[in-house]
Amino acid sequence: MKQIFIIANWKSNKTESEAKDWLEKFNIQDAEFTNKEIIVCPPFTLLSSLKSSIENHKSQIKLGAQDISLFDEGAHTGEINGKQIKEFASFVILGHSERRNLGESKEVIDKKIKMAIESGLIPIICISDISQIQDNSPELINSDNKIIVAYEPLFAVGSGNPDTPENAANMAREIKKKLGNVPVLYGGSVNSQNVNEYVKMSEVSGVLVGKASLDPLEFAQIIKNAQ
Ligand code: PGA
Repeated sequence: MKQIFIIANWKSNKTESEAKDWLEKFNIQDAEFTNKEIIVCPPFTLLSSLKSSIENHKSQIKLGAQDISLFDEGAHTGEINGKQIKEFASFVILGHSERRNLGESKEVIDKKIKMAIESGLIPIICISDISQIQDNSPELINSDNKIIVAYEPLFAVGSGNPDTPENAANMAREIKKKLGNVPVLYGGSVNSQNVNEYVKMSEVSGVLVGKASLDPLEFAQIIKNAQ
């Protein structure tokens, strides 16, 4: 049975009470977790309370952050460093197209990947095309490092217009050619109706879900439908 990653990217959504409400409505049986890793990536402000609620619910959900500081602890106003994130989360989304659009360069993303790995976090590295995997990114090429890569084509993110499962599988093959046998996910307008089309591709190890993850019932259905 292959391991399937289903990752929720909440982006800049939800207050503390909305997150609590989400968790109460998100009702998934333990059996669903057998071969599935469910990771929720909320805003920083929710990591602490979600961690407590997850423990109270005895849920197997894991947490991820949506960014990491380039710096260690110290005089860096507004920054949240790897050691701080590690208290609450095991994963961090990096290289998302929405952050690249804000001007985050390949060099900055590479440094953040290095920071994440040094902090004991697993980076979920988003790329929209293969050129974003540089041959001079030692953190990426070093297969000893635990990383997850998500192929998220620009036209598909938040558009309701997903890429085809065949393209996702082809891209996963290209990524594995460069990086070895890392888990490659597909992201971009995934929902409960189309999730299994991606997950059933042998090269694709799961999905990164934005909008559809905000609704707890839809996200639970995505998990159930991913076989
Ligand atoms: P979407 O977002 O599912 O809303 O298209 C995916 C993402 O940005 O990770």
